[in-house]
Amino acid sequence: MSTRQQATVDTNINWFQENEQYIKTQRLECYQHIKRIVQRELRGVGDLLDVGNGGFFNYDTSLVGHVTAVDLFLRDGPGPMPNSTFRQGSFLELPFADASFDCVLQQNVFHHVTGRTVRANHHNMRQCLGEMFRCLRPGGKAVILESTVGPFFYLFECVAYRPVLFLKRRGHPVTFQFTPRQILRAAESFGFVLEEFTFVPRGWFLNQLGYIWPSILTPAKPIKLVLRRPGPALAAAA
Ligand SMILES: C[S@@+](CC[C@H](N)C(=O)[O-])C[C@H]1O[C@@H](n2cnc3c(N)ncnc32)[C@H](O)[C@@H]1O
Repeated sequence: MSTRQQATVDTNINWFQENEQYIKTQRLECYQHIKRIVQRELRGVGDLLDVGNGGFFNYDTSLVGHVTAVDLFLRDGPGPMPNSTFRQGSFLELPFADASFDCVLQQNVFHHVTGRTVRANHHNMRQCLGEMFRCLRPGGKAVILESTVGPFFYLFECVAYRPVLFLKRRGHPVTFQFTPRQILRAAESFGFVLEEFTFVPRGWFLNQLGYIWPSILTPAKPIKLVLRRPGPALAAAA
Protein backbone atom coordinates (compact mmCIF):
# COMPACT_ATOMS: atom_id res chain seq x y z
CA MET A 1 0.00 0.00 0.00
CA SER A 2 1.50 3.31 -0.99
CA THR A 3 0.48 5.19 2.17
CA ARG A 4 3.43 3.23 3.69
CA GLN A 5 5.68 5.58 1.73
CA GLN A 6 4.44 8.30 4.07
CA ALA A 7 6.06 8.01 7.48
CA THR A 8 3.61 10.48 9.02
CA VAL A 9 0.19 9.03 8.13
CA ASP A 10 -0.95 8.47 11.72
CA THR A 11 0.32 11.81 13.05
CA ASN A 12 -1.42 13.61 10.17
CA ILE A 13 -4.68 11.80 10.89
CA ASN A 14 -4.46 12.40 14.64
CA TRP A 15 -3.57 16.05 14.24
CA PHE A 16 -5.99 17.15 11.53
CA GLN A 17 -9.06 15.04 12.23
CA GLU A 18 -11.50 17.32 14.06
CA ASN A 19 -8.80 19.95 14.65
CA GLU A 20 -10.89 23.06 15.29
CA GLN A 21 -7.75 25.01 16.16
CA TYR A 22 -6.36 24.52 12.64
CA ILE A 23 -9.61 25.73 11.08
CA LYS A 24 -9.47 28.91 13.21
CA THR A 25 -6.06 29.83 11.75
CA GLN A 26 -7.85 30.30 8.43
CA ARG A 27 -8.85 33.75 9.72
CA LEU A 28 -5.23 34.94 9.44
CA GLU A 29 -4.50 37.41 6.67
CA CYS A 30 -2.36 35.00 4.62
CA TYR A 31 -5.11 32.35 4.53
CA GLN A 32 -7.67 35.00 3.60
CA HIS A 33 -5.44 35.86 0.61
CA ILE A 34 -5.29 32.17 -0.22
CA LYS A 35 -9.07 31.92 -0.02
CA ARG A 36 -9.49 34.80 -2.48
CA ILE A 37 -6.89 33.29 -4.84
CA VAL A 38 -8.54 29.88 -4.75
CA GLN A 39 -12.01 31.32 -5.35
CA ARG A 40 -10.76 33.24 -8.38
CA GLU A 41 -9.21 30.08 -9.83
CA LEU A 42 -12.24 27.88 -9.17
CA ARG A 43 -14.91 30.06 -10.77
CA GLY A 44 -16.50 28.14 -13.65
CA VAL A 45 -14.69 24.83 -12.96
CA GLY A 46 -16.83 21.75 -13.67
CA ASP A 47 -15.41 18.76 -11.74
CA LEU A 48 -13.00 19.71 -8.98
CA LEU A 49 -10.78 17.39 -6.96
CA ASP A 50 -9.57 18.90 -3.66
CA VAL A 51 -6.70 16.77 -2.30
CA GLY A 52 -5.80 16.87 1.39
CA ASN A 53 -8.96 18.84 1.97
CA GLY A 54 -8.90 18.49 5.76
CA GLY A 55 -12.67 18.00 6.00
CA PHE A 56 -13.59 21.65 5.47
CA PHE A 57 -13.87 24.06 2.54
CA ASN A 58 -12.11 27.43 2.66
CA TYR A 59 -13.92 28.47 -0.53
CA ASP A 60 -17.45 28.81 -1.83
CA THR A 61 -18.22 25.40 -3.32
CA SER A 62 -21.07 26.85 -5.40
CA LEU A 63 -18.37 28.28 -7.72
CA VAL A 64 -17.80 24.77 -9.15
CA GLY A 65 -20.04 22.14 -10.68
CA HIS A 66 -19.03 19.39 -8.24
CA VAL A 67 -16.23 18.98 -5.72
CA THR A 68 -14.72 15.69 -4.58
CA ALA A 69 -12.68 16.15 -1.41
CA VAL A 70 -10.14 13.49 -0.48
CA ASP A 71 -8.09 13.10 2.69
CA LEU A 72 -6.53 10.30 4.74
CA PHE A 73 -9.28 10.41 7.36
CA LEU A 74 -12.45 11.29 5.41
CA ARG A 75 -15.24 8.72 5.14
CA ASP A 76 -16.63 7.91 1.71
CA GLY A 77 -20.03 9.57 1.25
CA PRO A 78 -21.78 12.83 0.56
CA GLY A 79 -20.05 16.01 1.72
CA PRO A 80 -21.67 18.89 3.63
CA MET A 81 -22.80 20.71 0.47
CA PRO A 82 -25.18 19.17 -2.11
CA ASN A 83 -22.49 19.36 -4.84
CA SER A 84 -19.76 17.79 -2.68
CA THR A 85 -18.51 14.26 -2.03
CA PHE A 86 -15.99 12.99 0.54
CA ARG A 87 -13.51 10.20 -0.26
CA GLN A 88 -10.94 8.51 1.95
CA GLY A 89 -7.61 8.14 0.17
CA SER A 90 -3.97 9.09 -0.13
CA PHE A 91 -2.40 11.67 -2.39
CA LEU A 92 0.19 9.01 -3.23
CA GLU A 93 -2.40 6.78 -4.87
CA LEU A 94 -5.58 8.74 -5.57
CA PRO A 95 -8.65 6.49 -5.77
CA PHE A 96 -9.83 7.89 -9.14
CA ALA A 97 -9.59 6.85 -12.76
CA ASP A 98 -7.28 8.69 -15.15
CA ALA A 99 -8.57 12.01 -16.54
CA SER A 100 -11.54 12.29 -14.14
CA PHE A 101 -11.35 16.00 -13.20
CA ASP A 102 -11.21 19.46 -14.80
CA CYS A 103 -9.21 20.93 -11.94
CA VAL A 104 -7.15 19.50 -9.08
CA LEU A 105 -6.53 21.72 -6.06
CA GLN A 106 -3.88 21.11 -3.41
CA GLN A 107 -3.42 23.51 -0.53
CA ASN A 108 -0.53 22.97 1.86
CA VAL A 109 -0.35 19.20 1.52
CA PHE A 110 2.98 18.43 -0.24
CA HIS A 111 4.99 19.31 2.87
CA HIS A 112 2.90 16.83 4.90
CA VAL A 113 3.45 13.79 2.66
CA THR A 114 6.77 13.04 4.30
CA GLY A 115 8.79 9.84 4.10
CA ARG A 116 11.66 8.52 6.22
CA THR A 117 14.40 10.39 4.36
CA VAL A 118 14.87 13.62 2.42
CA ARG A 119 15.08 11.54 -0.74
CA ALA A 120 11.74 9.89 0.12
CA ASN A 121 10.18 13.34 0.67
CA HIS A 122 11.18 14.34 -2.86
CA HIS A 123 9.93 11.03 -4.23
CA ASN A 124 6.56 11.57 -2.52
CA MET A 125 6.23 15.16 -3.75
CA ARG A 126 6.89 13.93 -7.30
CA GLN A 127 4.38 11.12 -6.89
CA CYS A 128 1.71 13.61 -5.70
CA LEU A 129 2.33 15.75 -8.78
CA GLY A 130 2.18 12.66 -10.99
CA GLU A 131 -1.18 11.75 -9.45
CA MET A 132 -2.48 15.28 -10.04
CA PHE A 133 -1.43 15.05 -13.68
CA ARG A 134 -2.97 11.59 -14.11
CA CYS A 135 -6.34 12.56 -12.61
CA LEU A 136 -6.66 15.72 -14.73
CA ARG A 137 -8.41 15.71 -18.08
CA PRO A 138 -6.22 17.02 -20.92
CA GLY A 139 -6.66 20.81 -20.86
CA GLY A 140 -7.36 20.76 -17.10
CA LYS A 141 -5.47 22.79 -14.52
CA ALA A 142 -3.74 22.16 -11.24
CA VAL A 143 -3.96 24.88 -8.60
CA ILE A 144 -1.24 24.64 -5.95
CA LEU A 145 -1.02 26.78 -2.82
CA GLU A 146 1.98 25.61 -0.88
CA SER A 147 4.27 26.74 1.89
CA THR A 148 7.83 26.73 0.54
CA VAL A 149 11.27 27.82 1.77
CA GLY A 150 14.37 29.43 0.30
CA PRO A 151 17.53 27.43 -0.54
CA PHE A 152 19.34 28.20 2.74
CA PHE A 153 16.55 27.02 5.02
CA TYR A 154 16.12 24.02 2.71
CA LEU A 155 19.73 22.97 3.47
CA PHE A 156 19.07 23.27 7.19
CA GLU A 157 15.95 21.10 6.82
CA CYS A 158 17.99 18.44 5.01
CA VAL A 159 20.41 18.21 7.95
CA ALA A 160 17.74 18.32 10.65
CA TYR A 161 15.12 16.06 9.03
CA ARG A 162 16.20 12.57 10.19
CA PRO A 163 16.97 13.56 13.82
CA VAL A 164 13.65 15.43 14.11
CA LEU A 165 11.71 12.50 12.62
CA PHE A 166 13.42 10.16 15.08
CA LEU A 167 12.73 12.34 18.14
CA LYS A 168 9.24 13.63 17.39
CA ARG A 169 6.48 11.05 17.82
CA ARG A 170 3.46 13.11 18.82
CA GLY A 171 1.71 16.41 18.21
CA HIS A 172 2.05 18.21 14.92
CA PRO A 173 3.34 15.94 12.15
CA VAL A 174 6.93 16.40 11.00
CA THR A 175 6.87 18.42 7.79
CA PHE A 176 9.37 19.11 5.00
CA GLN A 177 9.06 22.21 2.86
CA PHE A 178 10.47 22.37 -0.66
CA THR A 179 11.78 25.31 -2.62
CA PRO A 180 9.45 26.68 -5.34
CA ARG A 181 11.96 25.65 -8.00
CA GLN A 182 11.97 22.02 -6.82
CA ILE A 183 8.17 21.81 -7.09
CA LEU A 184 8.13 23.50 -10.47
CA ARG A 185 10.88 21.27 -11.91
CA ALA A 186 9.08 18.14 -10.70
CA ALA A 187 5.78 19.37 -12.20
CA GLU A 188 7.37 20.11 -15.55
CA SER A 189 8.92 16.64 -15.66
CA PHE A 190 5.37 15.21 -15.93
CA GLY A 191 4.45 17.54 -18.78
CA PHE A 192 2.69 20.26 -16.78
CA VAL A 193 2.96 23.72 -18.33
CA LEU A 194 3.38 26.67 -15.97
CA GLU A 195 0.69 29.36 -16.29
CA GLU A 196 1.34 31.34 -13.14
CA PHE A 197 3.79 31.48 -10.27
CA THR A 198 3.43 34.11 -7.55
CA PHE A 199 4.31 34.54 -3.90
CA VAL A 200 1.29 34.95 -1.63
CA PRO A 201 1.56 37.91 0.80
CA ARG A 202 2.32 36.47 4.23
CA GLY A 203 0.57 39.01 6.44
CA TRP A 204 1.78 39.55 10.01
CA PHE A 205 1.22 36.03 11.34
CA LEU A 206 1.50 32.50 9.96
CA ASN A 207 0.68 29.00 11.13
CA GLN A 208 3.84 26.89 11.30
CA LEU A 209 3.97 23.46 12.96
CA GLY A 210 0.60 24.05 14.58
CA TYR A 211 1.48 27.37 16.23
CA ILE A 212 0.86 30.96 15.20
CA TRP A 213 4.14 32.83 14.62
CA PRO A 214 4.99 36.37 13.59
CA SER A 215 5.67 35.80 9.88
CA ILE A 216 9.06 37.47 10.12
CA LEU A 217 10.29 34.70 12.45
CA THR A 218 9.39 31.92 10.00
CA PRO A 219 11.18 30.77 6.83
CA ALA A 220 7.85 30.16 5.06
CA LYS A 221 7.24 31.58 1.61
CA PRO A 222 3.71 30.65 0.54
CA ILE A 223 3.33 30.32 -3.23
CA LYS A 224 0.62 29.98 -5.83
CA LEU A 225 1.24 27.83 -8.90
CA VAL A 226 -1.22 27.32 -11.74
CA LEU A 227 -0.21 24.45 -14.02
CA ARG A 228 -1.92 23.17 -17.15
CA ARG A 229 -2.10 19.62 -18.42
CA PRO A 230 -1.74 20.27 -22.16
CA GLY A 231 -4.87 19.60 -24.22
CA PRO A 232 -7.89 21.28 -25.74
CA ALA A 233 -9.57 23.99 -23.63
CA LEU A 234 -12.28 22.59 -21.34
CA ALA A 235 -15.78 24.06 -21.39
CA ALA A 236 -16.59 26.20 -18.33
CA ALA A 237 -19.37 24.97 -16.02
CA ALA A 238 -22.71 26.78 -16.40
C1 LIG B 1 -2.05 21.64 6.47
S1 LIG B 1 -3.46 20.63 6.22
C2 LIG B 1 -4.22 21.43 4.81
C3 LIG B 1 -5.73 21.30 4.83
C4 LIG B 1 -6.42 22.13 3.71
N1 LIG B 1 -6.00 21.67 2.40
C5 LIG B 1 -6.11 23.60 3.90
O1 LIG B 1 -5.38 24.17 3.11
O2 LIG B 1 -6.55 24.19 4.86
C6 LIG B 1 -2.75 19.18 5.47
C7 LIG B 1 -3.80 18.13 5.13
O3 LIG B 1 -3.18 17.13 4.31
C8 LIG B 1 -3.69 15.88 4.69
N2 LIG B 1 -2.77 14.84 4.24
C9 LIG B 1 -1.55 14.54 4.72
N3 LIG B 1 -1.03 13.52 4.02
C10 LIG B 1 -1.95 13.18 3.07
C11 LIG B 1 -1.99 12.18 2.06
N4 LIG B 1 -1.00 11.32 1.85
N5 LIG B 1 -3.10 12.10 1.29
C12 LIG B 1 -4.13 12.95 1.47
N6 LIG B 1 -4.14 13.92 2.42
C13 LIG B 1 -3.07 14.02 3.22
C14 LIG B 1 -3.83 15.99 6.21
O4 LIG B 1 -4.66 14.98 6.73
C15 LIG B 1 -4.38 17.40 6.34
O5 LIG B 1 -5.79 17.41 6.28
